[in-house]
Amino acid sequence: MQHILTREFALEADANDPLKDYRTKFQLDDPHLIYLDGNSLGVLPRETVGKVNHVVEYEWGQRLIRSWNEGWYHRAEEIASKIAGIIGAREDEVIVADSTSVNFFKLAWAALKIKGERKGILSDTLNFPSDIYLLQGLADMVGSSHNIKLAESDDGIGMNLSALEKLVNEDTALLTLSHVTFKSAFRYDMKQVTRLAHEKGALVLWDLSHSVGAVPVKLNNCNADMAVGCTYKYLNGGPGAPAFLYVRRDLQEKLQSPIWGWFGADNPFAFGLQYAPAQGIRKFLAGTPPVLSLSALDTSLDLISSAGIDKIHSKSKDQGQCLIRLFYHFLKPLGYSLGSPKDPEMRGSHVSLRHKEGYRICKALIDPDIGGKTIIPDFREPDNIRLGITPLYTTYNDLYETVMQLKAIVEGEWFKKFSDERDMVT
Ligand SMILES: Cc1ncc(COP(=O)(O)O)c(C=O)c1O
Repeated sequence: MQHILTREFALEADANDPLKDYRTKFQLDDPHLIYLDGNSLGVLPRETVGKVNHVVEYEWGQRLIRSWNEGWYHRAEEIASKIAGIIGAREDEVIVADSTSVNFFKLAWAALKIKGERKGILSDTLNFPSDIYLLQGLADMVGSSHNIKLAESDDGIGMNLSALEKLVNEDTALLTLSHVTFKSAFRYDMKQVTRLAHEKGALVLWDLSHSVGAVPVKLNNCNADMAVGCTYKYLNGGPGAPAFLYVRRDLQEKLQSPIWGWFGADNPFAFGLQYAPAQGIRKFLAGTPPVLSLSALDTSLDLISSAGIDKIHSKSKDQGQCLIRLFYHFLKPLGYSLGSPKDPEMRGSHVSLRHKEGYRICKALIDPDIGGKTIIPDFREPDNIRLGITPLYTTYNDLYETVMQLKAIVEGEWFKKFSDERDMVT
């Protein structure tokens, strides 16, 4: 599709969209709401309600403790095998547990442990702060001789491979990056970067939080070592849904978990007093898996698999390009700038638009008294309005209407009605 500068084009694109029926499978019942924040918290799939109710009322309510032997014990692996299918991994290379931050800590620690003599930790300034904090904490924990280097972005949007190339060397133990960066949605070439690190003997840990469920990820094909990712964004697992981690099969023997909890032990119900790790990926579990939250992931993963990640990505790219064309036509003249790569091959599934009044513009978008609809994006400092495209439920008309509203808010200076004081969660 080349043009989407009118509502008619948008409506026609929606009518011809091969994924259009998926929207009805999500609880988006308010006709006055446009939701563009699936990159932060995915929408509730309708069937998840029944699924979770079944787990609560039947599995917990009636079967009680018996449910551990009737399915709960292996639920983390079952859900993980569905995730494996959309990140190009083998079923026995993924497990669902804890939060992304905790999983990141486990795998980064494991990498530093086996690369004992190497002291270099490399990431970039585009990475999500939690990952950087965890590296800082780890360096503090394992001893002062470790050093953390962050590759700098020239424009705050993307990264030249040469910036990484300059910093990775024979002392690098770990290179860790977000596959898709949280602010600009810049997308790394996973294969190229992994090869670069491997040439110097370093391990690579990918954060897939902004790619899983939105763009194709081919961990095995890229020979990726380790990965983590969250499930409450494009995987629609709900607030605080458990995260996942991946360790390539041949590394599982070599890497240890720093948290020797009973669910990661060989035979938890033997209650022996000497820890021995479970075989394979299960050793990266720590405590009791969150059964209710795990169950909430099931429906959404089935929806994503049935739609197909390639089709999802193809629509995401097309919608992103439409949005960017709308931006150039209507918004650039009003002081907005593009905070994401123009090239869809270098981008994930959200588009950031920047404006010096970005925060107040976001407030105006969300307020139904301004323009009649509630439009929900999110805001990332200092001036990024993130517009999340979730192809299973985002329509072309959602994007058209959002751009028209962004235009009207600045033209009419409606943002001036709002305070610039930040809410706790933006
Ligand atoms: C790229 C990335 N990594 C890590 C996290 C932290 O995830 P968690 O809250 O599950 O630890 C987030 C949260 O949004 C994220 O976007």
